Amino acid sequence: MPVSQSTVRVINHLDRDYLREALEHDVTSGLTSSPKWLPPKWFYDATGSELFSRITRLPEYYPTRRELAILRARSTDLAADSGADTLVELGSGTSEKTVLLLDALAAAGTLRGYTPVDVDAVTLGAAARRVAARFPGLDVRAVCADFERHLALLPRNGRRMVAFLGGTIGNLEPAVRAVFLKELRATLRPGDTFLLGADLVKDIGRLVAAYDDAAGVTAAFNRNVLRVINRELAADFVPEAFEHVALYDERQDWIEMRLRASRAMRVWVGGLGLTVDFTEGEEMRTEISAKFRLEGLRAELAVAGFQVRRHYTDPEGDFALVLAEA
Ligand code: SAH
Ligand code: AVI
Repeated sequence: MPVSQSTVRVINHLDRDYLREALEHDVTSGLTSSPKWLPPKWFYDATGSELFSRITRLPEYYPTRRELAILRARSTDLAADSGADTLVELGSGTSEKTVLLLDALAAAGTLRGYTPVDVDAVTLGAAARRVAARFPGLDVRAVCADFERHLALLPRNGRRMVAFLGGTIGNLEPAVRAVFLKELRATLRPGDTFLLGADLVKDIGRLVAAYDDAAGVTAAFNRNVLRVINRELAADFVPEAFEHVALYDERQDWIEMRLRASRAMRVWVGGLGLTVDFTEGEEMRTEISAKFRLEGLRAELAVAGFQVRRHYTDPEGDFALVLAEA
């Protein structure tokens, strides 16, 4: 019997003009603020995604392994519980862990479609082709989009499980997170579910080590945002002149990554006609990575109109996967 071919379609909501305008806006507002900051979505060009993949294999970076352990143990239950035939994945990256969910949906006999969504077109396309090759007959619609802006444009066909894995929810500021959850909730139809991966509050030493690894991969990932700005906006940042900083803010329950100027510097951002001065030791925030308590997460979801149907943690209690319904 011939094996039916999978179809891969790529839908792009991020053309060059859009990306350029969004980057210009973010860099202008971040670098002219006091203190300076940059949003984490600009880490992820092809190099940034590759560095993130290396982070996931570091001994100090536990979240990927913990979430993988939960998925290994629970994907069959999640497939049965959700009854989904279409998996939509926000911030899908390499889609490596997702394969476990797709395997479970295929084994349940329901799997029809997969919609990975990511800002990094290169990593997205490669992942979509890999998944299509592994699941014959699967309708793969890769969407290059910003999940902070384009949720309403995502395909709505099928009974969907929208997965947001890896703890990426923690990279959104609390106010942005609340809006994101509400907007996502508004796109769900009866029968759809939301699968959310969230990193949990834990020992501070382990948290900081996960974001300040001995091999310096996270430091390279952090500095990559400066390389992206140099390339896209003709800036002259010297990335090596910025030190990687990772600290835990106990009041906010989040890791903060910063770049600290090792000397006074004047940076020219040619594409914006902007001069930016750094004093020696000045720190610029590049990412927050919030850590959650289950009750807090449940409450945030409830405010957005979600009810938690199931939650699972790994045996060490490091990471949580929550299946919610609208
Ligand atoms: N889900 C994967 C990858 C996490 S890394 C995992 O669990 O390992 C975060 C991913 O989200 C990256 O692939 C990055 O390109 C993507 N991303 C970050 N901000 C985004 C945004 N605003 N819209 C869409 N994708 C985004
Ligand atoms: C993608 N996100 C969940 C990662 C995190 O842990 O916050 C990004 C990252 N930043 C530094 N290391 C990993």
